[in-house]
Amino acid sequence: MRESRQIGCFCVFLANMRILYIGGGFVGACSAAVSADSGHEVLVYDIDKERVKKLSSLDKDTIESCLFEDGLGELIIRNASRIKFSCDFAEVEKFLDSAGAVFMCLPTPEKDHTGRSDLTYYNQACKDLAAALAGRNKGEQNNYILVINKSTVPIEMIGVTEETLRKKGVKNFGVGANPEFLVEGDAIAGSIRPQRLVVGAWREKDFSIFREIYNRFCDAPNVSYIEVNPIEAAAGKLLANFILFNRLANCYDVVGRTCEKFTHMTYENVRKIIITDKRIGDWGFYDSLFAGGSCFIKDARSLGQQLREKDTNVDLVSNTLEANNRQINRFLSRPKFELGYAWPGKKVGILGLAFKRNTNDIRNSAALNVTEFLLDHGVGEILAYDPAAADNYLNYFKGHAEKNKIKAAKEEKEVMEGADALFIITDWPQFRGLYEPIMANLPKGALIMDGRRTLYHKYGDLSKAGYDIIAVGSPVVKHGT
Ligand SMILES: NC(=O)c1ccc[n+]([C@@H]2O[C@H](COP(=O)([O-])OP(=O)(O)OC[C@H]3O[C@@H](n4cnc5c(N)ncnc54)[C@H](O)[C@@H]3O)[C@@H](O)[C@H]2O)c1
Repeated sequence: MRESRQIGCFCVFLANMRILYIGGGFVGACSAAVSADSGHEVLVYDIDKERVKKLSSLDKDTIESCLFEDGLGELIIRNASRIKFSCDFAEVEKFLDSAGAVFMCLPTPEKDHTGRSDLTYYNQACKDLAAALAGRNKGEQNNYILVINKSTVPIEMIGVTEETLRKKGVKNFGVGANPEFLVEGDAIAGSIRPQRLVVGAWREKDFSIFREIYNRFCDAPNVSYIEVNPIEAAAGKLLANFILFNRLANCYDVVGRTCEKFTHMTYENVRKIIITDKRIGDWGFYDSLFAGGSCFIKDARSLGQQLREKDTNVDLVSNTLEANNRQINRFLSRPKFELGYAWPGKKVGILGLAFKRNTNDIRNSAALNVTEFLLDHGVGEILAYDPAAADNYLNYFKGHAEKNKIKAAKEEKEVMEGADALFIITDWPQFRGLYEPIMANLPKGALIMDGRRTLYHKYGDLSKAGYDIIAVGSPVVKHGT
């Protein structure tokens, strides 16, 4: 029986909806799993057969081997009766006869370093969807359906989506935006207990569909449920990401640099002074060698490009992007300038390959820049370890002319044995305990490149033991000092 309640002058049915997700990547799969957990019947369509096979396996480890997100496997398995993954478009066509909403969760990477979004995947999916929507209910198109952008798209994209569907003869539909704010590595926990949900629509009818989809959250006391128009929703996403990205750049390009240039100060003490100001807060206030991942860089470049097209000064956006690149370039140049270090023939260990902890995502990971730099500078061998991302990392370099120089290790200790230099790149919590393994396995005299200040409380002990240390946010620490 359909339970209903009154919201303003609209009656909202608190019943299960049939929801299609197009694209079963980090965003599509996680969001679909949470929808199924909210009681909806969900179909996830993806063109990647291997991914669909793994996500359909009902085996936690197999599911998380393709999308390493804590809790994703359990959630899919627990809701297996309500979620299906498919690469068969005929199933999509059938499903649409009685679906209430479609989420577009396609990749929108940057196009050729222009800042423009590459909308190839999105447009193809939109074209296929249009044909299927126009043919639903044998062409009668009886059921009203809301098509929702979850992909990060240009601010005015929603109008293009609507126009594409209309031109292909789709009727009885609305368009909306529901930008995704998930934090990789915490996507499931963050989606089950979101801080905020932003839904963008032009019509009350479409807002009421959103409320039905998000019936679990729309009047939950701890969730900011924000209803705006689709343009504001898309802009809000890009702007929020830029502010976070700029904050990270501030933490290393200004605060970190200050701590590298003056003696008698530690980043952690300076940090305490700054973050205890409530107006500043502590989010992201850690030094690091680079802000990577699939979103910050791409979204900032897209924002900059869209503002440039509106004849606006984008210096702050450009400077933030430059600061990010400057940080990794500086970090990599320090061994030569501060120690006269030379890389040719060296055996190098890398700890951490994912762009951040708790994910196997390597998109824009600093590990890729570091590896390319080392190969360009003639190292003899790279041995790399990551708890989750080693396969993706090896796969990334499989076409590289010097791929034979790169090997994956099974544990931290293996990376250290016989190494001339050791990089710490990702903030995996398990790396906090590296001091003992380093002392036991890394040859004395080796160079430690700490890109996360993971060992900051031990720099003195490590230098006394014979290691040179270059860490973000500290002057060089030479062995024996
Ligand atoms: N990953 C994040 O942390 C994150 C956070 C917020 C927003 N976003 C945005 O969400 C969107 C999706 O990101 P993602 O990380 O999930 O990407 P992803 O690459 O992990 O997944 C996208 C999926 O879409 C599939 N696909 C491509 N073309 C298709 C088609 N025509 N039909 C069906 N499936 C198709 C791919 O096979 C892939 O599995 C992007 O716009 C991204 O910017 C991502």
